[in-house]
Amino acid sequence: MKNTYLDLIQQTFYFPQDGFEVKNNYLYFHGIPLKQLIEEYETPMRITYLPKISENIQRAKKYFNDAIRKLNYPGNYNYCYCTKSSHFAHVLVEALKNDIYLETSSAFDIDIIECLYLNKMLNKDTLIVCNGFKTKIYTQRISKLANLDFNIMPVLDNMEELEAYENTIIYDCDLGIRIASEEQPEFQLYTSRLGIRYKEIKDFYLNKIKPNPKFKLKMLHFFINSGIKDNIYYWNELSKLLKVYVELKRVCPELDSLNIGGGWPFRSSLGFEYDYAYMAEEILNKIKQTCEEENVSCPNIFTEFGSFTVAESGAFIFSVLAEKHQNDSERWYMIDNSLMTTMPDSWGINSKFILLPINKWGNEVQRINIGGLTCDQMDYYNSEAHTNELYLPLINGGEPLYIGFFHTGAYQESISGYGGTKHCLIPSPKHILIQKDESGNLSYEVFADEQRVDSMLTVLGYDKLDED
Ligand SMILES: Cc1ncc(COP(=O)(O)O)c(C=O)c1O
Repeated sequence: MKNTYLDLIQQTFYFPQDGFEVKNNYLYFHGIPLKQLIEEYETPMRITYLPKISENIQRAKKYFNDAIRKLNYPGNYNYCYCTKSSHFAHVLVEALKNDIYLETSSAFDIDIIECLYLNKMLNKDTLIVCNGFKTKIYTQRISKLANLDFNIMPVLDNMEELEAYENTIIYDCDLGIRIASEEQPEFQLYTSRLGIRYKEIKDFYLNKIKPNPKFKLKMLHFFINSGIKDNIYYWNELSKLLKVYVELKRVCPELDSLNIGGGWPFRSSLGFEYDYAYMAEEILNKIKQTCEEENVSCPNIFTEFGSFTVAESGAFIFSVLAEKHQNDSERWYMIDNSLMTTMPDSWGINSKFILLPINKWGNEVQRINIGGLTCDQMDYYNSEAHTNELYLPLINGGEPLYIGFFHTGAYQESISGYGGTKHCLIPSPKHILIQKDESGNLSYEVFADEQRVDSMLTVLGYDKLDED
């Protein structure tokens, strides 16, 4: 009897499942015939399946709006996309089809906003929530947009930030304040370096914001690094946020919005389980209960989901170039790119993604380590979210084995850089954008070819040697 890779997956997970199915031993991702894609474009390849971005935005809106209806929650829900999760124009253009707002985190982000405006992808009513520790150039750009009558809301990271707007913003401007949350118990530090301490917020408002008729404090924001999870730490932090909201609301009637940040998880494993509807309902329920007990009105809710918006749209596809046996138990599949440079979260923060072969699902399996092309000891991947081992099909001759890391659409290029130079000069893979029309037909576009050597040599100054 053969124990095939398909058997292994079907015994371990519910399979097929949303976005993944196997036909004739070949994997399809949202109906995309990956083998055909490889034949046409070759590996290494990054793909972005754009419809998934809109689908996830609509899912989140539905979870929160259903909860609002069910609880009779007297406020509305507002979806902001946090641009730092993926700054690509095609991501922003797709996301903006869904009547959303944006969240920025640095000066150059504001240039993206202007560019989107000039290209009519957003208008001046689109709320732009500006987060992050602000440099002078960031506050200058924020002020510029505020003075051009954009609907821009700086979220103060510290008390000094207000001074930067006092003389530069001419018209009335809404403000938010970020609360410095406590870090999760296992972290090395106690309090986030971002935001203003809980106990300083009310006095700051009374002494600095309230006396200035130009500014209205509208939003309280917090972000929990470990994500929105059903654990004591999360609910505890939410309670503390609500305490500040209640206290401030009593002295600041115009405060009407609570921004619960990002951290809505994405599906990082075939075994992933998360009850999104329950979490949305519980969060709103807790806010409503607190506000009713304290006799203050309920805030409108804002979220800034980054990974959730974009992670599930992305994948990397690699070929296995060779199999190496380094001792009796350690076998390696060497791939045609680097995990370290292309998926930095896999080594930097030990993130796991959905890893599946594209072909050979009918082959028997073996325990394997995947090795990247850099010389770095850490350029490997050998465990999954559900187990400390990694199994892939035997190669057994024939066509090469192709593997895909799925749901990798968030942060990977923001952390590793896109283009530019990389460890051991491993190039950025070719990048294909995939759309689906209303009749379900898929279309493909090469967004970028595999990075070429001249782009790296230019960054490294070799082009200047020619001039000497
Ligand atoms: C202020 C803020 N909002 C939103 C996000 C997005 O988080 P995620 O991608 O986990 O949804 C981040 C991520 O660092 C953040 O710092």
